[in-house]
Amino acid sequence: MKRKPRPYGKFKTQNSCPDVTGLVGNAHPTVLSPVTCHPPTPPPSNPSTLKPIHPHTPAMVTFAPQSLSLHQTESTLALGRWLGERLTAGTVLLLQGDLGSGKTTLAKGLGQGLGITEDIDSPTFTLISEYLGGRLPFYHVDLYRLEGKAVDNLYLETYWDGLEFPPGIVAIEWAERLRHLPPAPLRVALTHRDGGRHVVLAPADVTQATLLETLTPDALLVDEV
Ligand SMILES: Nc1ncnc2c1ncn2[C@@H]1O[C@H](COP(=O)(O)OP(=O)(O)OP(=O)(O)O)[C@@H](O)[C@H]1O
Ligand SMILES: [Mg+2]
Repeated sequence: MKRKPRPYGKFKTQNSCPDVTGLVGNAHPTVLSPVTCHPPTPPPSNPSTLKPIHPHTPAMVTFAPQSLSLHQTESTLALGRWLGERLTAGTVLLLQGDLGSGKTTLAKGLGQGLGITEDIDSPTFTLISEYLGGRLPFYHVDLYRLEGKAVDNLYLETYWDGLEFPPGIVAIEWAERLRHLPPAPLRVALTHRDGGRHVVLAPADVTQATLLETLTPDALLVDEV
């Protein structure tokens, strides 16, 4: 018997294939999976040629990353401030990059943008710092000294599952060491370039992507690459 065709479903829109160079840090390149990327497929014009999406196939939508040059420390701080003023509660930033690439500097800017007046230092030894004096709680994590099970034992998910801690902004340095990723993290990959830094911000959902579209070099007084 001939199977009844399924009704034609939605067709995902696909941004152009993002340049994910630098999204995966050098230290543990295999831990974080790169951004999913499929070449764009224009929808066929004749509906009879459309293939229905299988109901059990998860939709895979990717968003274009944003790249910027950060010529000086002040530019990294400015980027952090810009994000800190705008990100919504529950956002988890995965800060990736080699030693000295600017992760803590960006976190300092985030804190400033959130309106936190306390000085934000690297929590390399304390592992997690919590700042509650801004417009949202800010949880700053540094995984440099940890690996494997020791990372799991921090139960970082309690900072984003909304059960134990009020939702805020979570920034994780050395995020390559996470073994379980939060849902929809904003990936921020920093690299050394020409005496300054280069950053690639990879949004994971439409809210982050829409916000990053408004991140112009003018907003930070930095040059776009
Ligand atoms: N855009 C930039 N251009 C030049 N120097 C920068 C820039 N951003 C940050 N720096 C400088 O880089 C140095 C290291 O920065 P930071 O401590 O933030 O790096 P990090 O990635 O947190 O390092 P670690 O891997 O040790 O945690 C600091 O002296 C900071 O001022
Ligand atoms: Mg640091």
